[in-house]
Amino acid sequence: MSWQNRRIVAFDKEAIHAGNRGLAIDHDNIAIQVDALMATMTLSQKINQLSGLQPAAIDGFYYAGGDEELGLAPYKMVDGPRGARAGMATAFPVAIGRAATFDVELERRVGLAMGLEVAAKGGNVILAPTINLLRHPGWGRAQETYSEDPWHMGAMSVAFISGAQNHVLASPKHFALNNLEITRFDLSANIDVRTLHEVYLPHFKRSIQEAAAGSVMSAYNKVNDVYCGEHSILLTDILRDDWGFTGFVESDWFLGTRSTAAAINAGMDIEMPGAHWYSEESINEALARGELDEAAITRNARRVVYQNVAWAIADMEVPDARVVEREEHIDLAREVAEKSFVLLKNELLLPLEDTAGLKVALVGDLADTVNLGDRGSSFVTSSEVSTPLSGLQAHIKNASLHYFRSDDDLNRLGDFDVCIVVAGLTYIEEGEFIPTLQQEAEEGELARGGDRETLLLPDSQRSLIDKVAGVARKTVVLLEGGSAIQVTDWLDEIDALLMLWYPGREGGHAIANVLFGKCSPSGKLPVSFPRSIDQLMPWDVNSLKVDHSLLHGYRLLDHQDTEPEFPFGFGLSYTTFDLGGLQVERTADYFNVTVSVMNTGNVAGAEIVQLYVSCTDSAVFRVPKELKGFGRVELEAGETADLELNLSDEDLRYYDPELNGWVLEPCSYDLQLGVSSRDLPLSSGWLFDGVEWQPV
Ligand code: BGC
Repeated sequence: MSWQNRRIVAFDKEAIHAGNRGLAIDHDNIAIQVDALMATMTLSQKINQLSGLQPAAIDGFYYAGGDEELGLAPYKMVDGPRGARAGMATAFPVAIGRAATFDVELERRVGLAMGLEVAAKGGNVILAPTINLLRHPGWGRAQETYSEDPWHMGAMSVAFISGAQNHVLASPKHFALNNLEITRFDLSANIDVRTLHEVYLPHFKRSIQEAAAGSVMSAYNKVNDVYCGEHSILLTDILRDDWGFTGFVESDWFLGTRSTAAAINAGMDIEMPGAHWYSEESINEALARGELDEAAITRNARRVVYQNVAWAIADMEVPDARVVEREEHIDLAREVAEKSFVLLKNELLLPLEDTAGLKVALVGDLADTVNLGDRGSSFVTSSEVSTPLSGLQAHIKNASLHYFRSDDDLNRLGDFDVCIVVAGLTYIEEGEFIPTLQQEAEEGELARGGDRETLLLPDSQRSLIDKVAGVARKTVVLLEGGSAIQVTDWLDEIDALLMLWYPGREGGHAIANVLFGKCSPSGKLPVSFPRSIDQLMPWDVNSLKVDHSLLHGYRLLDHQDTEPEFPFGFGLSYTTFDLGGLQVERTADYFNVTVSVMNTGNVAGAEIVQLYVSCTDSAVFRVPKELKGFGRVELEAGETADLELNLSDEDLRYYDPELNGWVLEPCSYDLQLGVSSRDLPLSSGWLFDGVEWQPV
């Protein structure tokens, strides 16, 4: 009898892109309509297209691009990356947590849900996703982005945008190289052309070319000493001429626009949130001085009008408000949280069994704190949030649960079978840093955030773990935070460690489900956890010049041949998996890779198979290996499935600055597959002679 395993296609394009309205635009037809409309517009009407309406949000919305006479309804833009920031909405786990699921189909559903909630509130542009590469885990806004790896970032971004654009325009941000927070308004990110194209831009390119993002937000910082809002290489040569972007570019808020003529000429279309440099007066003066000509105004205004017509903004239906925080979205937020947790250590302790007689202590103020992430522009409020405490209280039926605040008498913890400590970071230690909010709040010290100078836990959190581990029979640490945290100094003291990120409104329920084995943890790290910050590149949060290179994250750790505490792509499970049966077939312009994944343990679980490529005898410097594909396989105990990944030749190329283009080099390529960047048991070698491919 013959039988076949279930077959899973990693990154099934058709499924990911379904319903993305940006991909369905009939450009020829829209261009005719837009040209006809533009022909009727006065200079003043065109200028009016180039700025937002008002400095402060109205009910969470920023307006731009409306013109009643022309029949153009305004864009209504709303933040941001973890939900609709307009009144109450579903607060999803932060993007870095969602990225830890390595589940593109799930991220597409998150995009769908957020897009729908934005639309139901009357919005039509979501100011998300944030796709600035996590160059260093100390970046204050790390939680808003997806990954230290461009391929992983691109896949998650495309999935989110395609989901969201079933309903509203997406706006990947901040273009480009915005990866240090405190000095973001002034710093220059310095970079060579090759690094720019290979490491820091590929995910933007995919967001434009694969997902047809409707708009792009430019960044505050400079790139090679030129402000991003007036960077013609980024905004015109690359974004438009090279990638074919047809949407509009809006500046980041206030300090994202720094000039009139330079910014307009470079291709920064809309000054947000209101007109200062792009006021009618400033623009007319620049025209009179000859720094600008009307053609530039017309060109930029046309881009703003173009999407308005293409998306038929005036005819967009507003979905029923009851979709906001509807049950389906709440369930989704819980599912994402469950899949986002990364089990980093487990000495035969988890899952716990909810049996009568089991005495559980839950410890730490964070266990009873609503900790959804930072309080910058991505802050989202939900009508109800389940904390670790409320989640465990709701789910534990038979065992006993006792809660200890951080300053309670912890000597009693020795009486419990297991102590669960919730430790980590909050918006105080990391997040978007808004100086004006901080000044307003100075006395109450509410608004904070910014970059982290160190990856250590705050002293109070560290000493809490020490105290608990000193008395407890068994200690589980649940860690909240938006990026890597240094755990090396206390890891040996504890029995289990689960990374929660900021798990969103359903976090507590997800925690209970994972701790008590209703589901197995399956997340993998989207960022390397170093043993100490010294393993990474020098990090100065006050820096005004930041040099970018091909080496950061796992690329740097691999290159230095140093062991991080937990490598990129790492995460444990309650079950075990076997990978085997690797088959690699060469087609005209891609590799078709199939691998069998078997759940060899006793419970259901999910494995994330990762495909890395090394180029072993290149004529140019190559990093030791790069992620070029991944797929998530959910399996019942004992089940086997075949995962299919397609590796395109495009992903094997390097960027040659002399040719100003991509090169597929004749040399040896090693395709490596496994379950983390440091655990790659399967490989397949290929030689490319410039014409043909041969297996070696
Ligand atoms: C942030 C953006 C955000 C915008 C609007 C800026 O300060 O950098 O990410 O979308 O504010 O709130």
